Amino acid sequence: MDTRVISTTPFDAQKPGTSGLRKKVTTFQQPHYLENFVQAIFDTQTALDGGLLVLGGDGRFYNREAIQTILRMAAANGVARVLVGQGGILSTPAASCIIRKYQTQGGIILSASHNPGGPDEDFGIKFNIGAGGPAPESVTNAIYQRTQTVDQYRIIEADPVDLDQVGESRLGEMVVQVIDAVADYADLMASLFDFDAIGQLFNSGHFRMRFDAMHAVTGPYAVEILEHRLGAEPGTVMNGVPLEDFGGGHPDPNLVHAHALVELTRGAQGLDFGAASDGDGDRNMVLGQDFFVTPSDSLAVLAANAQLTPGYRSGISGVARSMPTSQAADRVAEALGIDCFETPTGWKFFGNLLDAGRITLCGEESFGTGSDHVREKDGLWAVLFWLNLLAVKRESVAEIVRAHWRRFGRNYYTRHDYEGIDSTAAEGLVNHLHLLLPSLPGQQLGDFKVAFADDFAYTDPIDGSVAEHQGIRIGFEGGARIVLRLSGTGTQGATLRVYIEQYEADSAHHDRPVQEALAPLILIARELAQIEARTGRTQPDVIT
Ligand code: G6P
Ligand code: ZN
Repeated sequence: MDTRVISTTPFDAQKPGTSGLRKKVTTFQQPHYLENFVQAIFDTQTALDGGLLVLGGDGRFYNREAIQTILRMAAANGVARVLVGQGGILSTPAASCIIRKYQTQGGIILSASHNPGGPDEDFGIKFNIGAGGPAPESVTNAIYQRTQTVDQYRIIEADPVDLDQVGESRLGEMVVQVIDAVADYADLMASLFDFDAIGQLFNSGHFRMRFDAMHAVTGPYAVEILEHRLGAEPGTVMNGVPLEDFGGGHPDPNLVHAHALVELTRGAQGLDFGAASDGDGDRNMVLGQDFFVTPSDSLAVLAANAQLTPGYRSGISGVARSMPTSQAADRVAEALGIDCFETPTGWKFFGNLLDAGRITLCGEESFGTGSDHVREKDGLWAVLFWLNLLAVKRESVAEIVRAHWRRFGRNYYTRHDYEGIDSTAAEGLVNHLHLLLPSLPGQQLGDFKVAFADDFAYTDPIDGSVAEHQGIRIGFEGGARIVLRLSGTGTQGATLRVYIEQYEADSAHHDRPVQEALAPLILIARELAQIEARTGRTQPDVIT
C-alpha cells in the first residue's frame, strides 16, 4: 500500500488545554488540521513506531471519520498494532484500562468530554501515555511545539476499516484489532467491587435506581455491567444508546443538565439512587432520594468507607484533590493518618502520585472521582463504589452522607460559573485580583478574617515539576475559602469559576440550604472580584 507524504503548513493555537485539543468540529474539518496534530503526536512519541496504540472515542459527530484518518496515519508512521474499540467507541476510563492492561505505548482518545456534539459543536483529541493517563505537560508541550513547525504528514491510501466487527485486519503492515469496547473494563470493575452484594441489593425489591447515560459513551458499559452482569431491571439505564449529537443534549452530569434524572429522585416516590455520567464516561453525579452528593463530599465518603469494598479492603495509601475541591477529604485523611495532596485542576496532576503509590483515591469538584485502578477519572467506577457501599451498609445515600458529616463536620460547598464572558474582561478581573492579593492577609471581610491569599502554584512531589498560576485562593480563619479561576476547557470566550466553601463542625447546623449558608461568602467573592462591574453579569449562569 502506498504511503503518501503530504505537505502542510502549521496552524496556530493547536495547544492542548486542560484535557487535550478541543475545538469546533468545523475547525477539525479544515484540510490538514487533524492530520497536523496527529503527525505531531507520532513525531514526538517515538515509542509508537513499532509499538501498540489504543484508539477510540466517545462516539460524537466526526468520531468515525477521525478514527479512519488516524488509522491510516498510524499505518504510515510505523505503528505495529492498533487496538480500536468496536464502533470506534471507548470511554475515557476504558481506554485507560486497555492501555494499561495490554501494556501499550499509549492511546489516542477522541472526545470533547461533556461539551455538546454535532456538526456545529465540539470535538477533541488527546494523547494518553503508556501509564494510561493524560499526557503530562512536558509531553503536551512537545506535541504543541511540533505542531508549530510540522511541514508534512504521512498517511497511507486505503479503504475505510470496518470498525463494527470485532476481529483483526491489516492496513498496510499494521494490524488493526477491533476489540469489544466493554469487556476488559467490566472485568476490572468486577475485580474491585462486590458484584454479589450489589446484585442482592438490586433483587431486594426495596431499591430503585436509574443511571442516565445521557446518550453518550457509557450507555453500552452501563447496560452490560448494571443490567447484564448485576441483574438490574431492563430500563435501569436511561438514554443508553450513544448518539453523535447526544440527542441534542449537553452530556454533563450536573443538576442543570441531568435535570430529568434529578426529577426522578424527587419526592416521596423518588428513586433511592440516581447517577449519571458525561460524554466520554469519566465524570459522575450521584443522587439519593431528594439528595445531591457534591463531588467533594463523594470523594470524602468513598475515602472514609473504602475498606468496605473488596478492591480497597486493605486500605488506601493516600488521597488527593484538586485545589478548588472542598477540603472534606482532608479531614478524612487526617483521621485515617494518611497524606492528602492538593493539586492543580486537571486529572493529569494525579498521575505521578498514583504511579508512585502515594495515593489510592483522588477526585475533583468537577464531578470527577477515581483511583489507582486506571489513570483517568472514572464515572461508572464511582457509581459502582456507591452501590457497593449502599449494598453493604443498607442505608440511604442521605443517611450515609449525614453520618459522614456528623463524624467529620460538613464542608458547605458551591461553584458559580459565569460562562462565555469577554476574554479581555476575564483577564482584567484576574489581574485585578493578583494586585489585591498581597493586601488581603489579616483583613477582616464581614465575619471572615483572611488567613492567606495566593495564586496557587504546585510543585509535584515526585518529579519536582512546577505548575504556576493555577487559580486564586483566599483562605479564611476557620477553614472557609474562596477560589477563583478561569476554565481551561471552554471553546468560546472565557468562563469564570468561583468556588466557595465553609466548614461547619456542629451537626445542629448541617441542614441549611447551601446557597443560604454560603451567602455571605458569595457576596464577598462578588465584591472582591468586581464581578458585576467587570463582566456585566449579575448572576452566575450555572450553580452547582
Ligand atoms: C476536565 C479535566 C478535569 C478538570 C476539568 C476542569 O474535565 O479532565 O480533570 O477538572 O476539565 O475544567 P475547567 O473547565 O474548570 O478547566
Ligand atoms: Zn469527561
